Amino acid sequence: MRAPRATSVYRCQQCGFASPKPGTCPDCKRTTGELTPLVEERTAPAPSGRRAAAPAGTRPVPLAEVALERGDRTLTGIAELDRVLGGGVVRGSLVLIGGDPGIGKSTLLLQAARALARATPPVLYVSAEESAAQVKMRADRLGVAGDGLLLWAENDLSAVQAELDSLKPRALVVDSIQTVFLPDLESAPGSVAQVRECGARLMTLAKGRGIPTFLVGHVTKDGALAGPRVLEHLVDTVLYFEGEPHHAYRVLRAVKNRFGSTNEIGVFEMAAGGLIEVPNPSGFFLAERPADAPGSVVVSALEGTRPLLLELQALVARASFGTPRRTVLGADYNRVCVLLAVLEKRAGLPIGNQDVFVSVAGGGRVVEPAADLGIVIAAASSYLERPVPGDALVLGEVGLTGEVRAVSGVETRLRAAAQLGFKAAVVPRSNVDGGLPLPVRGVATVGDALAALLG
Ligand code: TYD
Ligand code: MG
Repeated sequence: MRAPRATSVYRCQQCGFASPKPGTCPDCKRTTGELTPLVEERTAPAPSGRRAAAPAGTRPVPLAEVALERGDRTLTGIAELDRVLGGGVVRGSLVLIGGDPGIGKSTLLLQAARALARATPPVLYVSAEESAAQVKMRADRLGVAGDGLLLWAENDLSAVQAELDSLKPRALVVDSIQTVFLPDLESAPGSVAQVRECGARLMTLAKGRGIPTFLVGHVTKDGALAGPRVLEHLVDTVLYFEGEPHHAYRVLRAVKNRFGSTNEIGVFEMAAGGLIEVPNPSGFFLAERPADAPGSVVVSALEGTRPLLLELQALVARASFGTPRRTVLGADYNRVCVLLAVLEKRAGLPIGNQDVFVSVAGGGRVVEPAADLGIVIAAASSYLERPVPGDALVLGEVGLTGEVRAVSGVETRLRAAAQLGFKAAVVPRSNVDGGLPLPVRGVATVGDALAALLG
């Protein structure tokens, strides 16, 4: 190993300016016009090297001795948000919330800011999109009182930074990262350079001062966060706020989380008085389920560790002319087409000349193969005009030969159904075992399932 070299700095004795090269001080020349010689200071070994300057705290430590800092989380007071964050927001962390315009990002963060302001005042809400009056109007609508909540309609991030010392906020909300800017950069707010630099600046502020910081991020037409990808790498947590514009329910989903799982979702309902937490989303989705209606089947989708009971509906009707139509809302179109072909070919239901409409009630969405059997049964039930027993849950992945394949998390899914009053379930035969929370009927093929549910 090479021995660290002794190095020299050349320092101005007037103003303290330091340079690696000898000469005269450029600062003094600019301010006073004088040519002050720089004086050599020898230092050994290298004081400016990163390794030499590293404090003792950054030495490697055995994993077992790493202390957990549990006290560093603050509950936002919105349980669904806290769950998605992994149990509250971590001190000094940067959380980016993306979502379509009008989905409720500002509403969610204003409500979170209010709750945080109660726990750890003051909270600074920087609105770069709306005037203070507009935010105030929303706050009034939400019944947000002013206590501990500072509102600032400002889009110059350096102005915000300058005031942080005097305001001393314990949490910061920036709405949105695409509309704030740093005046020393030439490019316009929302440009890649601005978004990247603003993100980096906020990161330094959040980490340096230990302020948890929430950023709102816009989403492009194809659903990605607008601006540089680097923003997503930079922040600690990326949450997406999703929902159908014409339905009241909203889902908050973590797509990246350095401090927790990305499997959890939070469910909200947009009401006249703002976002309301939905601790029991299944009840919400099943609330208007018709009794004994053909074409309606309840399935259980597993969102992370959280089972979500959803009602699948199908309507099969004779095609009036031309090619039969397939219309799918809330599920994968191609998957539904495959399942309908399996139903025709393997179970012998002649639905090839029928229009088929499939949707998830209440604006929900299923992407899991575990809902396959539910889709097949719903279509068959509608075609045959025979209802599925209202208290039965249907689970299973369907293969191209008509076989019903095992799904994961059966016990969790069935327990949720039992809590909502379901009495029985039809599940893949390979999933049947003794300790399940509901009486189950195991099926190996689509034909078995049709016989079990529709007679
Ligand atoms: P907003 O939070 O402004 O959305 P974003 O910041 O994501 O663009 O919310 C916009 C929508 O929410 C708006 O269309 C009106 C609706 N809304 C309610 O239904 N109830 C409410 O109490 C509030 C504040 C908004
Ligand atoms: Mg907004």
